[in-house]
Amino acid sequence: MSFSLPRGTQDILPDEVIKWQTIEKTARQLFNAYNFHEIRTPIFENTNVFARGMGEESEMFCKEMYTFEDKGGRSLTLRPEGTAAVTRANIMHSLHKQMNPLKLYYIGPFFRYERPQAGRCRQFHQIGVEYLGEYSSYVDAEVIALGYYMFESLGITDLKVCINSVGCNVARPVIEEMVKQFLSNNLSNLPKLVQDKFNHNPLRILDSKDEHVQAYIAGMPDIKEALTQESKDHFFGVLQHLDEMGIPYEVTNTLVRGLEYYTETVFEIVSDHLGAQGTVCGGGRYNNLSKELGGPDIPAVGFGFGMERTVMLLDHMKKKLATSIDVYLIPLDPLSRDHLFYVMHQLRGANISCEIGYTDQLKPQLKRANKLNAKRVVIMGENEFHNSSVIYKHMANRTQCSIPITKLTTTITNDIELNKLPAFQ
Ligand code: HAM
Repeated sequence: MSFSLPRGTQDILPDEVIKWQTIEKTARQLFNAYNFHEIRTPIFENTNVFARGMGEESEMFCKEMYTFEDKGGRSLTLRPEGTAAVTRANIMHSLHKQMNPLKLYYIGPFFRYERPQAGRCRQFHQIGVEYLGEYSSYVDAEVIALGYYMFESLGITDLKVCINSVGCNVARPVIEEMVKQFLSNNLSNLPKLVQDKFNHNPLRILDSKDEHVQAYIAGMPDIKEALTQESKDHFFGVLQHLDEMGIPYEVTNTLVRGLEYYTETVFEIVSDHLGAQGTVCGGGRYNNLSKELGGPDIPAVGFGFGMERTVMLLDHMKKKLATSIDVYLIPLDPLSRDHLFYVMHQLRGANISCEIGYTDQLKPQLKRANKLNAKRVVIMGENEFHNSSVIYKHMANRTQCSIPITKLTTTITNDIELNKLPAFQ
């Protein structure tokens, strides 16, 4: 029997998983420092959460959602993104009344029916944050900084932060009219895709990938001219805070983002090493979403970054990441094995990762220790057994010494603490 996976999905095999775990661990550490709390929402939701959240007119809602009817005739959708789901959860549970501002993060799979290619999958994984309850340029800057430092902590520095403002409710119709007016003279010469978007989503024309359209758009006045004074102040406030934090950014006048709930600040973190799918992280402010979903008026800002694309960046930078264990235990006879087997359980109880060999020969066991990338080995033969000692050997520098078995756990614990390695070598 031969198997194949559905298009756009992949197995993440044990060799690869270490990268995923490192990204998740780094993210959780940063979220802790920024005081964000985890939320887990269902993988599927009632379709109306996304219909109202992302707009029934939006490209994602129309073309990219995995929507199906369950056996009870209800319309359900595999979550294509986290923002609408988190906003729905807040409205249902009034979390903002218990914690204000409400700072949430999520890690998990998402689903979009897109044409698969490198960095674009139908099941992909996102790590995202949503900061609800505060309208302040400081908060936007804090959220962008968190995204930026996430990659920096992973050793990924070759990135660009692109930022823009798409205005509030008041400015939006003015901006749309401005775009339409600019395009209307030449509309019939522009690609059909532009003509299709002209009436129902003119803003999206700005971030068209078509070179011909891009060249034409370059001559358009900056949409930020149409912002209200409050939005202008907010935007320049965000830039000022980014400057103060030393976060490099580029104001990109054509950045509008694909999701329709954004108001004011939008941003993306992009890389030149991801081919056509260059955006590794995208986010922005969405002050109207809670109200649009039938909830209270809660301003919010957040971002999501793709784990597949982050792994691609780690691979591109040839970051070496290998699974390893703290100790490999090598008994050279049955009595020593009995003893080390018991020691192994003590070590594991002290949170030391270890394995034991089940043959009596030294060579194959050392080979296995190397294969498992053991940082240290502990050897016990007849002599050591009778002296209640072990040979303690460092694999990296090949040094070894004899230590009493009673001191083994503390020796290893101290040693691990002293030699704590950075996540990436
Ligand atoms: P998004 O730009 O649609 O934003 O997705 C965020 C990130 O998820 C992208 O930059 C990309 O790295 C990854 N991603 C998206 N689609 C795919 C795919 N098909 N395959 C692989 N990776 C993908 C959002 O989803 C917003 N909810 C972000 C946000 C949070 N805005 C405010 N709060």
